[in-house]
Amino acid sequence: MKAVVLQKYGGPEGLILSENPKPAVKPGEILIQVYSSSVTAGDCELRRLELPLGLSFFMRLYSGWKTPKHLQVLGQEFSGVICELGEGVHDFSIGDEVFGTTGMKFGAYGQYLALPAIPRDAEGVVVKKPENLSFEEAAVLPTAGMEAMHYLQSSQLTKGQKVLIIGAGGSIGTCALQIAKNLGAEVTVVDSGDKLEMLSKLGADEVIDFTATDYLKTKNRYHVILDVVGKKDVARRMRLLESGGSYALAFPQISDLFLSLGQRIFKKKHLRIQASNQSKGELEYIKDVVENGDVKPVLDRIFPIESAAEAHAYAESGRKIGNIALSFTEKLST
Ligand SMILES: NC(=O)c1ccc[n+]([C@@H]2O[C@H](COP(=O)([O-])OP(=O)(O)OC[C@H]3O[C@@H](n4cnc5c(N)ncnc54)[C@H](OP(=O)(O)O)[C@@H]3O)[C@@H](O)[C@H]2O)c1
Repeated sequence: MKAVVLQKYGGPEGLILSENPKPAVKPGEILIQVYSSSVTAGDCELRRLELPLGLSFFMRLYSGWKTPKHLQVLGQEFSGVICELGEGVHDFSIGDEVFGTTGMKFGAYGQYLALPAIPRDAEGVVVKKPENLSFEEAAVLPTAGMEAMHYLQSSQLTKGQKVLIIGAGGSIGTCALQIAKNLGAEVTVVDSGDKLEMLSKLGADEVIDFTATDYLKTKNRYHVILDVVGKKDVARRMRLLESGGSYALAFPQISDLFLSLGQRIFKKKHLRIQASNQSKGELEYIKDVVENGDVKPVLDRIFPIESAAEAHAYAESGRKIGNIALSFTEKLST
């Protein structure tokens, strides 16, 4: 089968199209022919080995110290069609159109994926694909959708509250903006360039260009802040949070663990760094809000799988608006 293999950590040129063996299906697993996958900021960070909370060290131990050996096929979300059922699988049928995540197994840059039909922790999740989306639209939705929902729900966002989304023009932010608006929140977004017009069209109440405005000087205060950028200045950005408010951080550093403790004790502010545990219930919620028209994935470009390296370079160019999909052109032969 076709698969994009990561031959070395670092730049996009380490991603090479290759021929890999098709995975065998074990009891309790389903075999999915992948039609589409995505290129997220998280995939690029994994390729460069620049991970949050000091995880790069553990990833080298797990996958290979100098070059990736154990984990070579990246890709953490997909859409496709079930083409084989392992013994004892009753929840799915051959031909079902599905979407989901691979968990720590990754591998969605390969043409076939064998995944547990009923996954345990960190094994990802698979559910039926939303009927109103193309395979490419569906493939970019699972991780960002579940993270956005998880961060807003754990922040207990309610109608009428003020939300600030920092880095709103990408995968998580575009989902979070739509979910927050549907919950009746007043949403301010921060990003730059061509993303600003798209964010206004998605319904943002206020749009801030961080390259033109130092929004940290504002006197406005927010009940909930979702920061998908992080990395530095988190303590300064937390000043924009109301006392008792909730600040969700998608890329935490080890120092943020201490910041979290200090802010909770002295300022009554909650810094949340835990990511979604990607449950079936969360992905089914995302499928529902998509099917009833409340959330629509923002898809910038679709690259053929052969151009995965180019897609990664584009994801890191600062020009990406929303999401990028990878497409396997070969569809299921019946
Ligand atoms: N996607 C997921 O499912 C997921 C899950 C868990 C954690 N995370 C983590 O969350 C982070 C964001 O993920 P994402 O997929 O939403 O990334 P993304 O698609 O790249 O979106 C981030 C957005 O923030 C913008 N930005 C960069 N610097 C900024 C700044 N100083 N102020 C305001 N906006 C800024 C980026 O613009 P430019 O493109 O111009 O830089 C981009 O539009 C990543 O570090 C990722 O590891 C992601």
